[in-house]
Amino acid sequence: MKVHYAALGLVNTRAMFAAAIRGGFAVPAYNFNNMEQLQAIVMACLETQSPVIIQVSKGAREYADRTLLRHMGQGAVEMMKREAAEKGVGEIPIALHLDHGDSYELCASCIESGFPSVMIDGSHLPYEDNAALTREVADLAHRHDVTVEGELGVLAGVEDEVAAAAHTYTRPEEVEDFVTRTGVDSLAISIGTSHGAYKFKAGQTPSIRLDILGEVERRIPGFPIVLHGSSSIPQEAVDAINRYGGTLTGSAGIPEEQLRAAARSAVCKINIDSDGRLVMTAKIREILALKPQEFDPRKYLGPAREALLSLYREKNKNVLGSAGRAPEIMRALRGPALA
Ligand code: G3H
Ligand code: 13P
Ligand code: ZN
Repeated sequence: MKVHYAALGLVNTRAMFAAAIRGGFAVPAYNFNNMEQLQAIVMACLETQSPVIIQVSKGAREYADRTLLRHMGQGAVEMMKREAAEKGVGEIPIALHLDHGDSYELCASCIESGFPSVMIDGSHLPYEDNAALTREVADLAHRHDVTVEGELGVLAGVEDEVAAAAHTYTRPEEVEDFVTRTGVDSLAISIGTSHGAYKFKAGQTPSIRLDILGEVERRIPGFPIVLHGSSSIPQEAVDAINRYGGTLTGSAGIPEEQLRAAARSAVCKINIDSDGRLVMTAKIREILALKPQEFDPRKYLGPAREALLSLYREKNKNVLGSAGRAPEIMRALRGPALA
């Protein structure tokens, strides 16, 4: 069944990014695959009054089931509204986003099932092919008032089920032509972040190329930039995983102060998945190790959800600067007459 996102209470990313550019913060884009992750994301963002992008990869959409997912998006909005009314706090804007869409057909399918925002990731393609595919998706999306993220440059690590050994940094001289020709609403760039828990090699200083970001910003001032691969890989979670039977060695993430600096600039959306995976796994391992008699999933998934809540709360307040920004976006979305 086709459904437009507005009927589900979801919003596209336009007003969020306009506020992020004006206010020097980044909107959190947290990945989810299941109910507990979604609950933690939405509740942490409501509590901190942050706008939020809940995002799913192609794999997550297959895992959770595309029909169920559309209802989860709608359910997230309805839960948020009910909780806001019960707690006497303001509602927050929620965008459901396709992360790393790899084809026109996948983007079209998401748009038809109520996504207000999609990413078409043609970053592995030659420049001209990436621009042509991105243009095609943007044309379709904009007919439905859906916002589109494109990507230029390739992150090291695993992206789109393709492993790249080294970064291909975004070439600032290409960005103006790309955003003009494709009509995208935001652009993901490659400046040294990467997906997963192993972002830097042993002995390497964890550092991203804020100089490239600065050059991109100079060439397309005020244009919303997206950072993928932005987990910080909390050492406490890695230690807990290893203490309770895991084997994660040599993991490293993006230092929080570098993400703070990026969020103050043209970076409007910061993607975080691995940190949530680590925190959730750490708590589940701890409980199963300390209470071997336990077999009710609520007894380990519930505490894991609590741990995720704290993680997202802290990110919004102390890293992205998105806490307290929802009210101005809600006013903009309601329009001048009701503002
Ligand atoms: O960028 C990738 C995200 O972390 C999603 O990963 O494809 O394993 O769901 P996934
Ligand atoms: P992390 O693996 O650093 O969390 O990155 C997630 C991401 O970029 C999702 O698109
Ligand atoms: Zn990504």
